Amino acid sequence: MSRLVVEGSQWGDEGKGKITDFLAQESDVVVRFQGGNNAGHTIKFNGCKYALKLIPSGIFNKNIKNVLANGMVINPKALLEELDLLKKQGITEYQLYISNRATVVMPYHIDLDGAKEELLGDKKIGTTKKGIGPAYTDKADRIGLRIGDLLNENYFRSRLEDALKIKNRELSLYGLKEYDLESLFNEYMEYAKKLKPYICDTSVLLNEEIKKNSKILFEGAQGAMLCLDHGTFPYVTSSSPIASSVPLNCGIAPKYIDNVLGIAKAYTTRVGEGPFPTEIFDEIAHTIRETGNEYGTVTRRPRRIGWFDAVVIKHAARVSGINQLAVMLLDVLTGLDEVKVCTHYNLNGKIIDYMPSCLEEFENCQPIYETFKGWKEDISKVTTFEELPANCQAYLKAIERITGIEISMFSVGPDRLQTIVLKEVFNA
Ligand code: IMP
Repeated sequence: MSRLVVEGSQWGDEGKGKITDFLAQESDVVVRFQGGNNAGHTIKFNGCKYALKLIPSGIFNKNIKNVLANGMVINPKALLEELDLLKKQGITEYQLYISNRATVVMPYHIDLDGAKEELLGDKKIGTTKKGIGPAYTDKADRIGLRIGDLLNENYFRSRLEDALKIKNRELSLYGLKEYDLESLFNEYMEYAKKLKPYICDTSVLLNEEIKKNSKILFEGAQGAMLCLDHGTFPYVTSSSPIASSVPLNCGIAPKYIDNVLGIAKAYTTRVGEGPFPTEIFDEIAHTIRETGNEYGTVTRRPRRIGWFDAVVIKHAARVSGINQLAVMLLDVLTGLDEVKVCTHYNLNGKIIDYMPSCLEEFENCQPIYETFKGWKEDISKVTTFEELPANCQAYLKAIERITGIEISMFSVGPDRLQTIVLKEVFNA
């Protein structure tokens, strides 16, 4: 029982960074398996704040192997900048492995991301504009470039030449500047020199670690509702941030996934567009946004705020096997007179407890709530469940009852020490 997936069970930003950082300390290997620098993890310890976008949270411990697996889309420039920033903060000794099968994000992906969003106008997805969608599109279209290609100059040049034939045509359709083969090639060869020591077949590495029974933590970015297949399509990201995608995105067999920890805020947030049944707009939303600093890590956009939606959590659990929950930012709700959990939706008079696949129907879902008394006591220093005020305990118990999933951790503040573990998560 050594392989654990940590995934966001809402729309991302649930505080996965804090939990993966916490669990990384007891892991041998930490793996990012999808997405790219659209993710943003903020980690705080020893009075310092670190912003990770592509790099797994095991990077702070030199004994941990950190893997960027084949399911990722990697912008080499952004990755090198992230490594430089870590260096400036004194993080210089680490083990980093980048899959030779991961997809390379190119500058034209970023240009196209912006142009497509602009064309969609008020129907835009609200992407992070990091080129994620266009990079995955090229992978599926088989004109994507792979990290391993960077190691073979001639091969990379010919792949880039082929890609540019198509991409420059597409860019000109949008009225965007076209790219010159030589200068792009030279730029990427410079990145290749710096990244070469880290590039390898990470599937081989992971399978070796599995044989050794190493503790492996798979760190999902974004959240289940942003899953390309099971999220609120089309307002999703372009990969699958759920445990079901780990085997394919890492090159391991499905039987090796032992446990899945779903991370959920004690309420709900969402950045970008798309339906959000439990969204609230009143003074309470404002209080939660300011207390919880609910602004995007990557884009600084104010996050939309809503009550805890158990229908969403149950959906995430169904499609990905979440068998335990970590409830985050519980302290942010302190001071409210009452707190709510959405148990069902009312869809045109029909009471349902699942998410309709059709966005128009999802937009029409009215939340049905159970309401609970709030608590006023400061909970930021509690170290056990029993120390929580009775109303707060009742709220957590209600979440367990309504979702049908046990809570194995909860968090009452940004520091590593403000994480209360109720159950062993690697061996649940
Ligand atoms: P993309 O991943 O940049 O293509 O953006 C697609 C959607 O996913 C948009 O609604 C983004 O706001 C959202 N998104 C992407 N990454 C994150 C994340 O790390 N946290 C929360 N939302 C995200």
